[in-house]
Amino acid sequence: MPARLATTVLLARVLAGLLAFAAAGPVAAQHELTGELPPVGAARRELVVVAGATGRSGRLIIAQLRSAGRYELRALARDPRAAAREIGAEYSWVAADVTQPETLASALDGATYVISAIGARERSGPDGPEFVDFGGVRNLVDAARSAGVRQFVLISSAGAGGEGGFNRWLLNLIGGDVLTWKARGEAALRASGLPYTIVRPGGLRDVPGGQAGLLLLQGDRKSGDVSRADVASVVIATLGNPDATGKTFELITDPAVPREAWRSQFRRLAPDVASR
Ligand SMILES: NC(=O)c1ccc[n+]([C@@H]2O[C@H](COP(=O)([O-])OP(=O)(O)OC[C@H]3O[C@@H](n4cnc5c(N)ncnc54)[C@H](OP(=O)(O)O)[C@@H]3O)[C@@H](O)[C@H]2O)c1
Repeated sequence: MPARLATTVLLARVLAGLLAFAAAGPVAAQHELTGELPPVGAARRELVVVAGATGRSGRLIIAQLRSAGRYELRALARDPRAAAREIGAEYSWVAADVTQPETLASALDGATYVISAIGARERSGPDGPEFVDFGGVRNLVDAARSAGVRQFVLISSAGAGGEGGFNRWLLNLIGGDVLTWKARGEAALRASGLPYTIVRPGGLRDVPGGQAGLLLLQGDRKSGDVSRADVASVVIATLGNPDATGKTFELITDPAVPREAWRSQFRRLAPDVASR
């Protein structure tokens, strides 16, 4: 190849490389635990922050998000070292306690989406529903608003919107008024002005997902159960989904419904109104 042509080709390649680099935007962060850097020129993906990632539902959410590979992922834990050891060092674990608002600003920094899978471990006291399902959710919501999060997805519970009924009364009795505090957590999210989705699962079961159809319901009148894996799939499907935004719905299994039918059900749900 003549020298002048070779020089032109080289310059064109350098220019193309520079353009690709500029188009990629800010360089994505280094992984905290593995030290891996994303490939040069890779576009920065939206960041999903999962609170309650150490819980039984939270673990399934981060596993599904990771295998989908579509988002950057940050997993929050009260004890990130234990979480990395017990759940996986491949996740980007960051320390956060929802009852300690000062831990949340950096934990949510840069987040596009926040998923809350937190739930009280105790029936009273600082780890009880008042300070986790209400106060903790409110702290997360405040931090998400300050961080400019695009959507907040809250796992609440069937019964949190009910007017009464034996099941609600019994769960409140056993769980330290958990449904009442969850209802207040939901209200804090609705009042925040943040785009949101509230998912109210029925009784959670540790069985594989995708085994039966799912019902997305409103009005909080029907009881049922649902696998944590299916809750994880539904929660992830709400991310960036305009048909799921500004809506609250219950989620239960129904073997009579075709397995994948739920995916097209979001648009049939009514948006929340201020009084709900
Ligand atoms: N159990 C049911 O049948 C049922 C039914 C409907 C809805 N729900 C709701 O569904 C959600 C998921 O339930 P699950 O049973 O899968 O959850 P889970 O296994 O009980 O896990 C609860 C999660 O909340 C975290 N958490 C608790 N207090 C925290 C705090 N102060 N700061 C940060 N994180 C805190 C826990 O972290 P640590 O690991 O650090 O403790 C854990 O990751 C919960 O909101 C639950 O109430 C449950």
